[in-house]
Amino acid sequence: MTDWKKSDWRAKPRIQMPDYPDTAELNAVEAQLSKYPPLVFAGEARRLKKHLAAASRGEAFLLQGGDCAESFDQFSADAIRDTFKVILQMAMVLTYGAKVPVIKVGRMAGQFAKPRSAPMETVDGVELPSYRGDIINELDFTPGSRIPDPSKMLQAYTQAAATLNLLRAFSTGGYADVHEVHSWTLGFTEGEKAERYRELANRITDTLDFMKAAGVTSEAAHALQSVEFYTSHESLLLEYEEALTRLDSTSGNWLAGSGHMIWIGDRTRQPDGAHVEFCSGVLNPIGLKCGPSMEADDLKRLMAKLNPDNEEGRLTLIARFGNDKAGEHLPRLIKTVKAEGANVVWVCDPMHGNTVKANSGYKTRFFNNILGEVQDFFAIHKSEGTIPGGVHFEMTGQDVTECTGGLHALSDEDLSARYHTACDPRLNASQSLELAFLVAEELSQMRSPDPKRAVG
Ligand code: PEP
Ligand code: CO
Repeated sequence: MTDWKKSDWRAKPRIQMPDYPDTAELNAVEAQLSKYPPLVFAGEARRLKKHLAAASRGEAFLLQGGDCAESFDQFSADAIRDTFKVILQMAMVLTYGAKVPVIKVGRMAGQFAKPRSAPMETVDGVELPSYRGDIINELDFTPGSRIPDPSKMLQAYTQAAATLNLLRAFSTGGYADVHEVHSWTLGFTEGEKAERYRELANRITDTLDFMKAAGVTSEAAHALQSVEFYTSHESLLLEYEEALTRLDSTSGNWLAGSGHMIWIGDRTRQPDGAHVEFCSGVLNPIGLKCGPSMEADDLKRLMAKLNPDNEEGRLTLIARFGNDKAGEHLPRLIKTVKAEGANVVWVCDPMHGNTVKANSGYKTRFFNNILGEVQDFFAIHKSEGTIPGGVHFEMTGQDVTECTGGLHALSDEDLSARYHTACDPRLNASQSLELAFLVAEELSQMRSPDPKRAVG
């Protein structure tokens, strides 16, 4: 029991949140949402926290991925299914590399609000407020579209509920069967450019064949047929978060009912700000994005505020520095965590420090820079003697052309073909799976015994 209240954030400085012009409508929407059922249950958030605690000890590995911003327009069963499917494929490849369970968390069913680098956007001399995600305003560049509209929170809730419902159905209804998932992956490795990944895929096939011969079939083992799948999003629009916050009667603690895990963005992590205040009081696992401007002292204050009891699995630090920048920033944060004796899960987001503008004008990310940041993340943890606990990707199961590079060597000129993101560029299905193979290689090297020690 604490004396924290879900509205306490209102007394703190807030940034990156809209000023709704119609307060009466805002209040009505908040009142309505407060009566709706929460989307997740406290026991699930506690269970995810236990899995994350295992990741902090190297006994599990987190895979978190999904759209930068979910969109109302592109909401469809196929899009949800395709992203879910690729996450499962990636998880299976990573499980093989890591030899530990992979925790599957979608950036889904709530990832609607976006922090922006500028409050205003100018096109051809016309200046309008920036687009802040479908839960707040609209992407169209017209004055009316950019007015924050509270009723969009109700639409976001409905979409999140339907998304979660489908994810739960896929997770347990047979769609997630390991044999099925692996056969999709074989489809990828049979492609002519993918021979590099075929060997690892064949080893997974051998493992599944062995299990089958030993009588471990999907019919005999429920675990092969279903998965645990969790949801997460940035806790940015605090009116929405507060309205879905509920008291968990078993523990007497507060649950953010909008998703299993929520995170604080790199722009809104002020220790005395509204976002940190809100997240400090809910029982969910909390993510904290750590960018280049994060100083040791900020991190100390944030850890004290967000995880005062040093609970394992409570706090995930999501490092997002950029290719070639991790070496400059990550060691000081790792040293701070060690000096404080803090329990954290270290996760790498190799997306947000690697966004560039292509010559064609599109925002993009180069596959090799994404991979490079993950590899540096692993190398730094190795030299610091700490544990890389997971990865965080912006990705989709659709065949989009938003990030360059990868097996099919997408170029700047290819970007315009299928550039559909409402915000940041995502890895497509093939690039996501390829990255999982490459991360699996890192993981298996990390786990293999040190050859020097093996000698003699
Ligand atoms: C994001 O995850 O989409 C995001 C905005 O990240 P960050 O806060 O790390 O910039
Ligand atoms: Co993003």
